[in-house]
Amino acid sequence: MIIRSRDLALSIAAVAAIAVIVPAGGAQNPISTPSSTVPPETRDTFHHRVLWMQNPSTEAVLSWSTPVAGEKHRILYDTETRGGAVADYTKQSSTFKDGPFTIVDKDAGFSAPAFYHHAHLTGLSPNTTYYVAFASDDVISREFNFKTAPGEDIEFTVLAGGDSRIGTETPYLHNDRRKMNERMAQLFASDPTIIALVHGGDYCMTAQWRHIAPWLADHELTTTPEGRLLPIVPTRGNHDRAIGFEEMFAWPDLKTPYYYTTQLSPKVGLVTLNTEISVAGDQRQWLADTLPVLRAANRWITAIYHRPSYSSVRDVQDGAGRRNNWVGLFEENNVDLVYESHDHALKRTLPIRSHAPDLKNGIVYIGDGGLGVPQRTPDTTRWWLQPPGFAKSAHHVHTIHYGKEAIHVKAHGMDGEILNDFVVKPHEVVASK
Ligand SMILES: [Fe+2]
Ligand SMILES: [Fe+2]
Repeated sequence: MIIRSRDLALSIAAVAAIAVIVPAGGAQNPISTPSSTVPPETRDTFHHRVLWMQNPSTEAVLSWSTPVAGEKHRILYDTETRGGAVADYTKQSSTFKDGPFTIVDKDAGFSAPAFYHHAHLTGLSPNTTYYVAFASDDVISREFNFKTAPGEDIEFTVLAGGDSRIGTETPYLHNDRRKMNERMAQLFASDPTIIALVHGGDYCMTAQWRHIAPWLADHELTTTPEGRLLPIVPTRGNHDRAIGFEEMFAWPDLKTPYYYTTQLSPKVGLVTLNTEISVAGDQRQWLADTLPVLRAANRWITAIYHRPSYSSVRDVQDGAGRRNNWVGLFEENNVDLVYESHDHALKRTLPIRSHAPDLKNGIVYIGDGGLGVPQRTPDTTRWWLQPPGFAKSAHHVHTIHYGKEAIHVKAHGMDGEILNDFVVKPHEVVASK
């Protein structure tokens, strides 16, 4: 017998109920959800999501959770809608990684345990909508869809943000994160050029199940009512060190520890770096080898990583390692834009080159994490935050539109206000090495 998931709204509500139960007295109070409160009839698939890492025009990882281990897990997919009719899908892909989300002692009493499933879809057609159903044994989800990245040199937009964790060790219903996810959903639904969310890290307070479960449930708020899934391009932050991060975001052939390149389109490259391992050594050498290749092939290169080089809040010295090991390579290769997180304020630096303002040929660094984490007060006296740079305490998500002539960046506030709006033009001078 096939058991179909309920519609999306009910599914989200069910998962949210599993993940977080809000006590009387307010959203910021600690919550407790003993496993025994999960209805035994809850067998639906949930936490449906898409992961992009390397070549999103032709491959993606589709991931989901189940309340029981199950035996046979697969993605049913097609380029035409099949309405969840299992026999009609012309393609399917088995999972490459399944297992129980790791549970630690501190998780006791919160979300019910669950199992992760990851399937790697390859050989996809670029710029194509795929209709998918998540299948675990005889439980089949409703039909979702996602669109692969462009295979041609067309203009497109990404959402970019970071720091969607809560502010305390004890989970609570994270209204600010949910509002920002709803803001992203509104942008995603209304702007057909948006292809993905590039996330700069710090998803949860810790990458442990009591925090991961509500994060994954809240992420489902970014799915459109029509079931279009917003792909995530992940970055590892300092709160994402536990094994749960690799259970959330699995990739079958990742050759380096979460530093990699993503070819967002034939002319737009994204470099994701990992600030949670050595920024020198192998990673720096990889960056030195990779950037010239990317520069030769792309109109635009953006770099993203978690801890900033040009911070808005933390001690200036905190960014010295990134500045000493990476920024020179960004400048030699004329990286067009850098995205940072971790400091929990909205910032845009003035254009920087050789650790000084360079309004003509400098690189702009934006961030610093506003997808719901409590915001801090930035130090606006720093030279890199002077006009046209700025910093302020405000929840935010950026849209980065990659055009033919310019990159157009907008910072969107929680209530839809535009907090900043500027363009980046190609650097006029290629620095010599
Ligand atoms: Fe953070
Ligand atoms: Fe952080």
